[in-house]
Amino acid sequence: MLATRFTCLKSFSKFFSTKRKIDAFGGMNLKDAPANPNRLTGKFALVTGGSNGIGKATCELFEKSGVSGLFIADKDEKNGNELAERLNSNRGSQFAFFQQADMTCKKSIEGMFLEHMKRFGKLNVLFNNAGIMHSNDDGPVTTEEDVWDLTMNINLKALFFAHKFAIPHMLNSGGGSIINVASLVALMGSATAQIAYTASKGGVLAMSRELAIIYARDNIRINSLCPGPIRTDLLMKFLNTEERLNRRLVHIPIGRFGETKEIAQAVAFLASDESSFVTGSSFVVDGGITQAYVTPE
Ligand SMILES: NC(=O)c1ccc[n+]([C@@H]2O[C@H](COP(=O)([O-])OP(=O)(O)OC[C@H]3O[C@@H](n4cnc5c(N)ncnc54)[C@H](O)[C@@H]3O)[C@@H](O)[C@H]2O)c1
Repeated sequence: MLATRFTCLKSFSKFFSTKRKIDAFGGMNLKDAPANPNRLTGKFALVTGGSNGIGKATCELFEKSGVSGLFIADKDEKNGNELAERLNSNRGSQFAFFQQADMTCKKSIEGMFLEHMKRFGKLNVLFNNAGIMHSNDDGPVTTEEDVWDLTMNINLKALFFAHKFAIPHMLNSGGGSIINVASLVALMGSATAQIAYTASKGGVLAMSRELAIIYARDNIRINSLCPGPIRTDLLMKFLNTEERLNRRLVHIPIGRFGETKEIAQAVAFLASDESSFVTGSSFVVDGGITQAYVTPE
């Protein structure tokens, strides 16, 4: 009897200890989900931080989704211009435009909306995506004031200015959708401290929620997006050792880092009329992290 139980237990544990192969960057092999070429037709969009990472992938998907006009704003002029040229050549028309903009500067933020309106005459989609994760951002004892201020200026104050200048244009355009990038760390604590970054993203979440309610009856929807760890320069410059990678990987139920195009899909949904009853949400795209207690082995 005991022997049978032991054999049963052995095969049971064998079954469950069969380790699945985990590939931290397995998402790179994902095929592109088919795009709906008319999903954003008739809409004029502005994307901040559009030259790289999540912003760039979103601009690429917006092009494939038929957006009528695309204004890419970023401080990185080289990559931004290259992207706009490539998208225009894919489409065969000059629908995309790049302008250098600095999110630490109020005038620059106001200027990008004025230029957008001059070119396109309508603003229907705003993706507030530009953001930084400072390499000296740490716990409260070691983080310097200038790191805190810079992080807050780009990640949070710039969003206040963006709404200040964008909302009148959006109201004149008959309404639209605003998507603000927060983060998973606005929802969950982390022992790998980045106190300024986390506080700035918490601010994005709270501000977006309130703005969504203020403009809920003006045909402007405002949602914040909470991505989990995504394979971009912003994150990968921190996770530059196997140990640091694994410290995160163990918490991701899906067992890999996310890809920029997986975030872009969520942005395109929130930007489109398919999400017409979604506002004030904290839209989480995190491979299951926020729902997990113990992850699969
Ligand atoms: N990568 C992740 O794991 C992750 C997770 C959660 C949230 N986010 C957020 O997503 C957003 C995009 O991040 P990413 O990973 O694509 O980063 P990224 O570094 O690849 O891209 C950020 C872009 O913002 C631009 N930018 C930075 N400072 C700017 C400024 N002052 N003015 C104008 N443009 C500026 C950069 O030039 C760059 O093109 C950020 O807000 C980030 O906090 C990223």
